[in-house]
Amino acid sequence: MDSTIKFWAVVPAAGVGKRMNADRPKQYLPLADKTVIEHTLLRLLSAEVFTAVAVAISIEDPYWPELAVATHPRIITAAGGKERADSVLSALHAISGAAADDDWVLVHDAARPCLTAADIHLLIDTLKDDAVGGILALSSHDTLKNVQGHSILGTLDRSHIWRALTPQMFRYGVLKTALATAQGNLAITDEASALELQGLQPKIVEGRPDNIKITRPEDLALAQFYLGQQHD
Ligand code: C5P
Repeated sequence: MDSTIKFWAVVPAAGVGKRMNADRPKQYLPLADKTVIEHTLLRLLSAEVFTAVAVAISIEDPYWPELAVATHPRIITAAGGKERADSVLSALHAISGAAADDDWVLVHDAARPCLTAADIHLLIDTLKDDAVGGILALSSHDTLKNVQGHSILGTLDRSHIWRALTPQMFRYGVLKTALATAQGNLAITDEASALELQGLQPKIVEGRPDNIKITRPEDLALAQFYLGQQHD
């Protein structure tokens, strides 16, 4: 790999997390000794591979400026957008002066605080010489049904089905073009789907099941359990 290639992290953190039914966006809920987003960012910062971590924050967000990590020298803040893809694109624009088209960008959800250094390095080591890049993913252990209403139409072949996690790792220039082209398309719920629309075939790298996304209230207790296990 060309040694001048840099690695950047992008963290979309401008969502409201309605399914949590909480008084604040889920990334600011307490988890063990910190907020969810502080765990996420400290894990990325301590991986020591990223030139900077660009975080997309809602412009009306009163919680972010209160966090010590907001003034960390390797944190860059960008204005969040309407959809997750808009927030990621905004963070990519925020590093446009410093990032080269061939640099790698790892996009990671603010709401995934249990990401391990091992998974970051596994993704990078597996894909750093790949033409396209790819994502951490998990195979499905459950049998999967195609359902309409409450009726089962069929059973999917689960050997071909993977659950997309983050980080998702792509070249800066390709990712920016793919997201800009897909703007307004609500089917783009992760970065890989924007590249798929360009006809590209991102790779999957099997990640750890403890890299959960905080979505519902009970996920916080599970994340706390995983964090405790990881520190043992
Ligand atoms: O809602 P969901 O869990 O899918 O959001 C995934 C990530 O995208 C979260 O970290 C959330 O803060 C972020 N997001 C964003 N801008 C939006 C919507 C979601 O940065 N407009």
